[in-house]
Formats: sequence, structure tokens, C-alpha cells
Amino acid sequence: MERTLILVKPDGVRRNLVGEVLSRVEKKGYVISALKMLEADRALSVRHYAEHEGKPFFEPLVEFMLSGPIVAVIAEGNRVIEGFRKLAGATDPTVAEPGTIRGDLARDQGTKVVQNIVHGSDSPESADREIKIFFPELSK
Ligand code: RTP
Ligand code: MG
Repeated sequence: MERTLILVKPDGVRRNLVGEVLSRVEKKGYVISALKMLEADRALSVRHYAEHEGKPFFEPLVEFMLSGPIVAVIAEGNRVIEGFRKLAGATDPTVAEPGTIRGDLARDQGTKVVQNIVHGSDSPESADREIKIFFPELSK
């Protein structure tokens, strides 16, 4: 069964949208197989977003991820990686389609890095890598 890593980022937790996000995932028919709330430290955030190291938004992105608790979720189902990315919508919430998580629930707040409520793995390789970062106990 395909798995993906979903994060409800600090803005989503602060705005009490954890239930809303999980509800959309479940209503779509995916199965939540693991769930935890945590405060990411710098090393964890840098590791998670390693592909963006060196980009202008990298430091603000890491700082943002440290700004409050996050919720990490493993969701399962056929084509869940692609399916959750569709549910999440485009990275920029201003142009994310209405009907998507980002399109319905987020907008440009004028912050240094765009705050868009959720993260979803973008490939099977990313999902494996990211699940190991957030749920190391599952790969023992
Ligand atoms: P995520 O990894 O968080 O699910 O988001 P994503 O795949 O839709 O977007 P990605 O390209 O991986 O970027 C990760 C996060 O970095 C910020 N970002 N800012 N041009 C920009 O200003 C820019 N590009 C990316 C966003 O916060 C994005 O979620
Ligand atoms: Mg990404």
C-alpha cells in the first residue's frame, strides 16, 4: 500500500485546522495509519527541507517550521501521494484552487515565507525519506 507523509504546519495547528485537514484526508478515503504532535527542532526541519538548502526562502522556511507545534501523519491508500498533493493544492495559497486545503484555508499573509498549512510528500522516494525522519521508530 502506498504511503505519504503529511504535516500540518505551525500555521495550521495555530489556527485549529488539524481536524479540518485530517477530516479531508479521511473523507477522501485515505487511511491515517500514524499520527503525532511534535515541536520540530532545527536539525529535523533542515533535514526535512534539505532539497531547498541554499534557496532564498530556506532560512525563513526553517524558522517558520520552528514557530510552533506541528502534526505529522502517515496516510495510506492507492496513489495517496498524488491524491494528497491534489487535496493540498498549489504551493502559493493565493492561486491554489478553491476546494483545496490551501485554496480554501490559506492566503498570502505577507510573511517572509509563504504559509500554506500542509506539507505532502512529492514522490515515493520523498515519502520513504520523510517517514523515516518523522517516524524513525517505525523503521526499526
Ligand atoms: P511542501 O514541501 O511544504 O509540501 O510544499 P510544496 O511541495 O508545495 O513546495 P516546495 O517547493 O517543496 O516548497 C517548500 C515550502 O517552501 C516555501 N516556498 N517558498 N518561491 C517561494 O517563495 C517559495 N517556494 C517554496 C513554501 O512554504 C513551501 O511550502
Ligand atoms: Mg515540497
